[in-house]
Order: sequence, then C-alpha cells, then structure tokens
Amino acid sequence: LQLSLSLLWSHFIGANNFMSLFARKPIAALMSEADHPNGLKRALGAGDLIMLAIGAVIGAGIFGSIGSAAAGQTDAAGNVIRLGAGPALVISFLLLGACCALAGLCYAELASMIPQAGSAYAYTYATLGEIVAWIIGWDLILEYAVGNVAVAISWGDYFKSLTGDWISIPSWLTTGYRTALLSSDPAVHGMLESAPRLFGIPVLINVPAFAIVALITWLLMLGVRESARVNNILVVVKLLVLGLFIVMGMQHIDTANYTPFAPNGFSGIHQGAAIVFFAYIGFDAISTAAEETRNPQRNLPIGILGGLAICTIIYIIIGFVLTGMVPSSQLGAQADPLAFALKATGMTYIAKIVALGAVFSMAAVLLVFQYGQPRIFFAMARDGLLPKWAAKVHGKYRVPHVTTFLTGAFVALWALIGDAGETYDLTNIGTLFAFALVCIGVIVLRHTDPDRPRPFRVPFVHLVGIAGAGLCIFVMKGLPALAWVRFGWWLAIGILLYLIYGYRNSTLRRNSPSVSTIQS
Ligand code: ALA
Repeated sequence: LQLSLSLLWSHFIGANNFMSLFARKPIAALMSEADHPNGLKRALGAGDLIMLAIGAVIGAGIFGSIGSAAAGQTDAAGNVIRLGAGPALVISFLLLGACCALAGLCYAELASMIPQAGSAYAYTYATLGEIVAWIIGWDLILEYAVGNVAVAISWGDYFKSLTGDWISIPSWLTTGYRTALLSSDPAVHGMLESAPRLFGIPVLINVPAFAIVALITWLLMLGVRESARVNNILVVVKLLVLGLFIVMGMQHIDTANYTPFAPNGFSGIHQGAAIVFFAYIGFDAISTAAEETRNPQRNLPIGILGGLAICTIIYIIIGFVLTGMVPSSQLGAQADPLAFALKATGMTYIAKIVALGAVFSMAAVLLVFQYGQPRIFFAMARDGLLPKWAAKVHGKYRVPHVTTFLTGAFVALWALIGDAGETYDLTNIGTLFAFALVCIGVIVLRHTDPDRPRPFRVPFVHLVGIAGAGLCIFVMKGLPALAWVRFGWWLAIGILLYLIYGYRNSTLRRNSPSVSTIQS
C-alpha cells in the first residue's frame, strides 16, 4: 500500500512540488475577485443576513433530531447507536452554544476580512494553503448538500403527517429505500417486502422530499433578492410557531419529568449534543453570501453572531419545555417530537399548527443551504479546482446557475432514496471538522499576515481559536464510529480527485508554475 501510494504521489505531484500543495492564495486577489464586474450582485444588508442565519439554523435539528438527542437511538437489531441526554439536553445546547460562539467569532473575523463567496473554503485557501482548502471545500459538501438531504427527508415526513388526513399517497412513494432498510420500526422495515418491485428491487422513493428540493432550486435560479424575500417571510412564520410551542407547552410542564435529569450522565449529554449539533449548523452559511453583501465588514459579524445568539436562546427554552412536557424516553421514536409532545398533552390543534410551521421552517433551511452550496462550487471553479463551467454566472439573474442546478439535482436524487438519520451524523462530522479548521486558520493568519486590516477582531484570539477547535473535536468524538469511517472515506475520495484534477488545473499554480509557498 505504501509503495503504491508513493508511486501515485510521485506520478501526480513529484517530490519537489510537495510544498506547492500548501500554496496560499493572496488575500488581495480574493478581494479584487469579489469586486469584479462579472461577479455577483451586492444586495444584502445586516438584517437580511440575520434572517438568512435564522432561516438556515432553525429546522430539522430542532424539529426532528432533538427527539433522538433526548432519548438516544437503537438500530434495527436493538444495539445502542447513541445514548440520550434526557432533560439535561439543555446542557447539551449550552455546550453547543459555547462551541458555535467560539467558531462563530472566528468565522466573523475571516468573513469580514475576506468578504468572498466560498466561506471556510476561501478562508482556508488564504491561510492553510490549497490542499487544505480543497479538503474543506470537499468537506463542505457534507454540510450543505448532504445536510440538505436530511432536511428534505424530514420535510417530507412533516408534510406527510400534516396532509395525511386529506391526501392519501401510497407509503412506498413517501419512504426512501434507506429509511426502510435501517428502520427499527417493523412496520417501516417490512416495506422492503411489501413495496412494488422493479427488476427485483423494492421501489421505495420519497417523492415529497424530491419535489420540495426541485421547487427551492427553481426559486434560487430566479436570483438572490427574490429568494431573500421569500426567506424573510418563512423566518417570521417559524419564530411565531416556536413561540406558540413555548407558550402553550409551558402550561403543561410536569416537573416529575425532570427526574432523572441526566439519565445517562455526561455521556448522554455528550452524545446528545453530537447529533443535535445539526440544529446549529447554518449560522456560518451566511458567510457564503459575503460577495453579495453590502458593507460586509460591518454586516457579516452582526449577522453571524446575532443569528447564533437568538437561536441558542430559543433552543435552550425549547429543550427545557419539551423535556418537561413528556418523559424524554418517549421522544426517540417520533419523527415530529414537538408535535408529539403537544398531542400527548391534549393540544391536537396546536400540534397541527406547529407541524405546519415545521414544514415552512425546513423549507427556509433548504433555501439557505441550496443557496450556499453553489457559491462554494463557484469559488472553487473560479480557482480552477473545479471545471470552469461551474463558475458561470447567469447573464440576467446574476446567480451561479450551473452549480445551482447541479446542487439541486444531487440533493433531490439522494433525498429520493436516502435516510434522514444516516445523513445527520455525516453532516455533523463534516461541519465540525470545517469549524475546527476555521478556528485554527484565524490564528495562523494573525501570524502570517498581522498587518492586514481586520474590521472585526476576535478578542483573545489564541484562547478562542484553540478552545473553539478543541470543543469542535470534542463534540465530534460524541458521534458513532460509523460516521468516522464514512468521513474518512469521503476525505480519501476528495484527495484523489484533487490529485487527478485540481492540482493540475489550479489557477494559482498555472499563473505561477514555480510556486512553492505563496506570499499573502
Ligand atoms: N440547522 C439546520 C437544521 O436544523 C441545518 O435544519
């Protein structure tokens, strides 16, 4: 293995070019690209960014994964996949709030300093070098596109429970193949036998999940302003619905449900945090809008940290109310835990309203991630790490239409047959990894480029950066072993693609073929 790896290595890279893998993109180049006349349209203000952040953050994590976080999870054979936090879920949220605030500060410094589409990808290119940037760009597909697969499937579940009384769709058209395969519920697992077959394979597809992704993709093709306006309406709806849940739920708290407070001790809090981290993903997504933001130096930090603070407070209150309403152990098997708790305490109509709100909320999440992913591809293609056609901007709508369409197709097709639970872990591990690298990147840049103006500076940067990266890795450790294995494979495939394509076509290397380490 070692021999073939080194042969592969010398074939693609050559021994002398090793350092060029870590070539850094000068920040000045990043800034001038952002203001290029063929670039994207600057239309978003601070308020739009906070709305985009809330639009991205509150979704499947709080409406769906919160159940497994509180109750834990077992597989079809009854083996424990993760331990639940119980009512101590509020501590998981506090832990995650701290972790994301530290990472958020680092994102804010880099985003205000390098206001360019591409988020963590662009920042890493300027700080840790090309190969790390590529790995991050590849890794961000897990956060954005794969994360959206989970959200789309969860959207489909809520849509089904909301409309189930009026529209009857055969369940083989609303259940993905992987969901049936992995489910510990005999009724769902049994569909592998009862579904119609095509060439001997059971036909199990999630049409609602596919359809919502198709609709969102079409909206995004129409341009950012229109999409931001739709997002603002959806955010107001989700805040109203969560407010309703809190007000009504508080009146049905039974304090007996708070005992035992932490049924699985700190392991439960830790493993619960590792899955419900999904609920926090997204505040960083607004940094992908940097190139479309007016006065990004001021507006980006306000958007990222403001959105994160609002969401953390809401989650802690929701976690407290939910685990007070019903025993935590009952929440695991529910696809819609918030609606379940309302029904269990006799509030059936309120449960329907909350389910409706969940459908809107998750549509908003889909919108922001489907918005962010194409812009990361766009930035990578502009740098030559992906083919040039991926960086095309539509003449009339000024959006990266090719990558918007391709992202839509990828997410919609996976959502058609995929499983939500399976994708939460993969998304979380990828995102936490990106967060950790951003925390390290901000420290590196303070040393390699100390004089560059920093409109927003992280206070106590060494402490914040190291503690942020450390906390991210700690939360990652709460994920199941299978997530680590899959993540390893994902990174290996990414590095291979880089060696085959990106390394040879990188604009940075083409423009300076002798590049070893590039000055910032
Ligand atoms: N944070 C987003 C959600 O919970 C991804 O849906």
